[in-house]
Amino acid sequence: MRFPAEPFRIKVVEPLKPTTREERTARLEEAGMNLFKVPADTIYIDLLTDSGTSAMSDRQWAALMVGDESYAGSRSFYRFESVIRDLFGYKHVIPTHQGRMAENLLFNAIVTPGAIVPNNIHFDTTRANAEQAGAKALDLVVPEGLDPSHRGLFKGNMDVPRLDRVLAENKGKVPVVMLTITNNSGGGQPVSFANARATADVCRKHKVPLFFDACRFAENCWFIQQREAGWSGKPVRQIAQELFALGDGCTMSAKKDGLVNIGGFLAMNDSQWAEKITQRLILVEGFSTYGGLAGRDLEAIAQGLTEVTDEHYLEFRIGQVRRLAEQLMDAGVPIIQPPGGHAVYLDARAIAPHIPPSQFPGQAIAVALYRDYGIRGVEIGSLMFGGPDPATGEEVVPALELVRLAIPRRVYTEAQLAYVGDSVIEVHRGATALKGLRITHGAPFLRHFTAALEEVPAAVPA
Ligand code: F0G
Repeated sequence: MRFPAEPFRIKVVEPLKPTTREERTARLEEAGMNLFKVPADTIYIDLLTDSGTSAMSDRQWAALMVGDESYAGSRSFYRFESVIRDLFGYKHVIPTHQGRMAENLLFNAIVTPGAIVPNNIHFDTTRANAEQAGAKALDLVVPEGLDPSHRGLFKGNMDVPRLDRVLAENKGKVPVVMLTITNNSGGGQPVSFANARATADVCRKHKVPLFFDACRFAENCWFIQQREAGWSGKPVRQIAQELFALGDGCTMSAKKDGLVNIGGFLAMNDSQWAEKITQRLILVEGFSTYGGLAGRDLEAIAQGLTEVTDEHYLEFRIGQVRRLAEQLMDAGVPIIQPPGGHAVYLDARAIAPHIPPSQFPGQAIAVALYRDYGIRGVEIGSLMFGGPDPATGEEVVPALELVRLAIPRRVYTEAQLAYVGDSVIEVHRGATALKGLRITHGAPFLRHFTAALEEVPAAVPA
């Protein structure tokens, strides 16, 4: 068997409007070559993110109908709370409208000036929220986690000896240690159970709480079951319960493994932290039994969290990402190794070595995928992370130039992903003709969202 096929059948369809290369070229011109600014209905396959883009199940749609919209004490909150308590095991459950609000509330409650927050690798919003609260955000992933060609099985692991040193040298300054499962910013790579346990042991030794950034916990636990000695045959749900029992709490964007389009939460054991966070929640999100969500959203998340640990689903889901990666590898397209749980990352520097980082090779590839094939990925390279260093004014060149193709959950069929594979292979074959880009208009912060660019004419051979 080549693959487990879709473990679902399609009950509702959303027609996709075909567009021509000419139309997409016009939209690109209007958008200043910025794929955040093209209208989404000119896209055939949208791989910008796996966040908030999942297809809900029939049971989730049915759950929306039984949502209780009471302002306080909603029945839907109690279901949400009980599903999360059962799976995550933490005492207090605090709903938020998405993951970054959970981060914002947590860090503002516990960070004091001069604090340090270690993580394997902070996702952008986690880093930004820790830093705006006054902390220094430290990334302590194992060294192979930063090597795109290393084929390790758990490249999301925390460098535990380094963490031990950081905690020993900064006594009293670390309010929490975070562990992101899977490690999105490092290519969606998983953390092993043994590494999570070692991280928890070091945290306990130094009396520092451990929180999971649990966005993609089910995908991580699937990798543990498949790859780590001693776990094969254990249900993913049980692995998740045992994993969370190592920690003291979590933040979660339910837009990933909650299988919903909006929502998130915090969960924790510490009652004082929970009380402080709830007070702030009421100020900025809403009452403690809805936290910025409708009752029906809480129902959909509760249902999504019961579906996401289904192993037929996970086998298909992770298999879909792996098959796209294999199709590309077979054709010699350079990608980050090994493929992670939610996305395939193209190595843009290797695909278009003739385009210097200052001309955004990743963006050039992303533009070609949209213009020629109607596919949207996202550049994660010098457009997203480059720019002048605020201190020195010198141009920052990030270590990697990537294009992330994130796969939404339960949304695209195998045929559609095979089309993505064929298209990337074509772009790779014709890569020498790709043109670099230059910024014509830019914002000082998060410039990738708003910048306008134009193609740099190819150099005329002498
Ligand atoms: N943590 C991780 C690991 C994430 O990947 C994200 C979001 C968040 C926190 C924040 O959650 O968006 O609900 O506020 N990642 C998305 C992505 C945006 O495309 O990777 P949020």
